[in-house]
Amino acid sequence: MDQFEKAADLLKHAKYAVCLTGAGISTESGIPDFRSDRGYYNTFIPEDALSVGVLESDPQRFYKEGYTILKDLEGKKPNPGHRALAEMQKGGYLHEIITQNIDDLHQQAGAKDVLQVHGDASTARCERCDYRCDFDEFDRHVEEGDIPPTCPKCGHEMRTNVVLFGDAMPPAFDRAVRVAEKADVMLVVGSSLQVMPVAYLPRMAEHLIIVNQGATPYDHTADVIFKGTASDVLVELEKRLSE
Ligand code: APR
Repeated sequence: MDQFEKAADLLKHAKYAVCLTGAGISTESGIPDFRSDRGYYNTFIPEDALSVGVLESDPQRFYKEGYTILKDLEGKKPNPGHRALAEMQKGGYLHEIITQNIDDLHQQAGAKDVLQVHGDASTARCERCDYRCDFDEFDRHVEEGDIPPTCPKCGHEMRTNVVLFGDAMPPAFDRAVRVAEKADVMLVVGSSLQVMPVAYLPRMAEHLIIVNQGATPYDHTADVIFKGTASDVLVELEKRLSE
C-alpha cells in the first residue's frame, strides 16, 4: 500500500476527518510563508512586527512592517491545493478546514466551514463602535497617511481583524478545539506546527496525515507523511479518493 493509498484509506474510513492548514498551502499562490528559507522571518519577526504591542506603541512601524503581510495578499488566487481540499469536502471526506492563514483562498476555492483561527485580513473594525469595513476601505486610510486609521463613524482608532500576537484567540479557535476533539483523522497541510495554541490541535486526533515540505514536531507520530509540494500531493490524494 503506497502513501496515497494509506492516506485515502484513512480518509475513506474516518468517522470525522478535518483539515488544518498553514501558510505552506498558499505559497504556490505567491504568498510567502513564515519560517521556510523564503519566508517572512528572513525580513522581520512577525511575533514583533504583527503584535498588539507594536500596533499600540509604534503604529508607524506596524503599518510599515507587519502590515505588508496583509498588503501582499491583494490579488492572490487559490491554487490547485485549495481546490482539491474543497473537492474533498464536497465529496464528504473532510469536514471543517481549520486554517491559520489570514488569506481567504480556501473560501475563494469553494470550501465551506473554514475556521480562521488567526482571523482574517479582508476586514477591519473600530475598537469602540464596532464599525466594520473591508480591507480596501481600511487600506485607503493607510495609503492616505491616516495612521492609525480612524473610524469614519466615531473617530476612534480602527484595526485589522487579523489576530495579532498578544491578542486573545477568537471564537473560531474555540470551535476548532471542539472540532479537533471530535476528529479521528486530521489532515495537516503546510504548517511547521510551531505556534501555540493551534499547534496543540493535531495532538487531539487519533490519526495524522501530514503534507509539509519542512519538518514538524508531529512527524514521528504521523500515520502518513508527504514531504512533497502541497498542491501535487492534494490533487493526487483527491484523485485517489474519487476513484
Ligand atoms: N508544499 C508543502 N509545504 C510547504 C510549501 C508547499 N508548497 N510551502 C511551504 N511549505 C511548508 C514549509 O516547509 C513550512 O514548514 O509549510 C510550512 C509553513 O510553516 P510556517 O512558515 O511556520 O507557517 P505556519 O505554520 O502557517 O505559521 C503559523 O505563525 O507567524 C505566525 O500567525 C503566523 O499563522 C502563522 C503561524
